[in-house]
Amino acid sequence: MKKFLFLADLHGNLPAAEAMGRYLDTAAADEIWFLGDAVGKGPSNAETCDWVRQRCHHFIGGNWDYGIGGREYAGDQYYYDQLGEERMQWLNSLSREAELWLSGIRFRLFHGRPLEPLLTQDSDKDALNRLFTVNGKQYGGVIFADSHRPFFRTHHAGYLMNTGSVGNSMGVTNAHALMIEAEPGTQRAPLTVSIISVPYDNERAADIARRDPSLPNQQAYIHEVMTGVYSRVRTDG
Ligand SMILES: [Fe+2]
Repeated sequence: MKKFLFLADLHGNLPAAEAMGRYLDTAAADEIWFLGDAVGKGPSNAETCDWVRQRCHHFIGGNWDYGIGGREYAGDQYYYDQLGEERMQWLNSLSREAELWLSGIRFRLFHGRPLEPLLTQDSDKDALNRLFTVNGKQYGGVIFADSHRPFFRTHHAGYLMNTGSVGNSMGVTNAHALMIEAEPGTQRAPLTVSIISVPYDNERAADIARRDPSLPNQQAYIHEVMTGVYSRVRTDG
């Protein structure tokens, strides 16, 4: 059995990334998959982008990773200035999705947006069903992120799971990730799924944001870090 760890949505929250890093130091994961949104929202974007590049082995981009380069929202210049040209080029070069066989199950891995609309475990059943078939190819498992809430459930088409968010968790304010222990490859074998929940210094994360008045949507970010309640206007990501 090997350990596959999936994480996403760091969103410029360095204290959360550091806490997850301390967990990774003890977790002995064989492969660490990044499922998008290293940056955006929080105040420490160069740091969380570099953390992802140093700690992860495989990389998939998210809507913020691509969107900042396109100056999709009014606040994107702030993030662009922090990241610089080289990091932005790296973020824009990330794959949209990947495939991974674990214990005989073909898993589809992607962030969520921009490939699909924003989906949660409560989304319309037909919309979730469609995630399991791409160009006639059938998947037995789907792992995604984007909703910032970790979950694992069975779906009639297979297993459906979400990494949750490292730096911008909704519901429970810990840093989250997903671990699967499985045999790599197409041979059927046992498989276990765990949700990783790591406490971190939320007050320190809020304080870094407080000391940066140029952070776009500063109050919404601070409120989300401290309460886990979504606090943005939906049009700004
Ligand atoms: Fe996100």
